[in-house]
Amino acid sequence: MMVELRIIAALSENRVIGRDGDKPWHLPDDLRRFRQLTDGHPVIMGRRTFQSICIKAGTRKPLPNRHSIVLSGKIDGFGDGIDVANFFEEAVDIAAFYSRDLDDVAYVIGGEQVFRSALAYPNTNVMELTHVKGTYVGDRHFPEYDQNEWVETNRESVVWTPEYTFVSYRKTA
Ligand SMILES: NC(=O)c1ccc[n+]([C@@H]2O[C@H](COP(=O)([O-])OP(=O)(O)OC[C@H]3O[C@@H](n4cnc5c(N)ncnc54)[C@H](OP(=O)(O)O)[C@@H]3O)[C@@H](O)[C@H]2O)c1
Repeated sequence: MMVELRIIAALSENRVIGRDGDKPWHLPDDLRRFRQLTDGHPVIMGRRTFQSICIKAGTRKPLPNRHSIVLSGKIDGFGDGIDVANFFEEAVDIAAFYSRDLDDVAYVIGGEQVFRSALAYPNTNVMELTHVKGTYVGDRHFPEYDQNEWVETNRESVVWTPEYTFVSYRKTA
């Protein structure tokens, strides 16, 4: 069976996802939801996202109970238990292997370049987006995508400063 990819991302109204190697907000319920949804599933990420999570967590293996697959042109220096993939399809193959007993679902967790690859990948069927109210200054953005290809399946708002809303999307075609 083919692995299904699911994108999970938080973006502002002007599509900002990151600034200076970090996220420009702190959203506790968003982190909780990220943990719940991705729990047990392999996660695919870019080298910079991996490094930003590691720095925050103060460890070289940042996400417990999930296989981390890191995209990079480099081949080592990522620590034990981390799979490195040199191109997107290779990351998907590794994710397919690790997700075979987990409903064949893997999550794509960023950053910008990796979201772009995932949006172009045919078996990316779900997006779990956290829409953060307001505009932000940032240096990384969520890619533009064809909104006609995606249908909203769930929506839940969180009262916080800033306000934010979890929206689930499924690909129509
Ligand atoms: N808001 C959110 O949901 C969210 C989620 C994740 C990250 N972020 C933010 O986004 C920023 C980090 O993301 P980023 O866009 O700068 O970088 P990134 O996508 O995490 O990492 C980019 C690196 O990944 C590797 N890479 C990406 N695609 C590849 C491919 N197809 N084949 C081989 N290698 C590939 C390359 O590594 P090498 O240079 O080693 O070759 C590239 O330099 C941070 O600010 C972070 O906080 C936000």
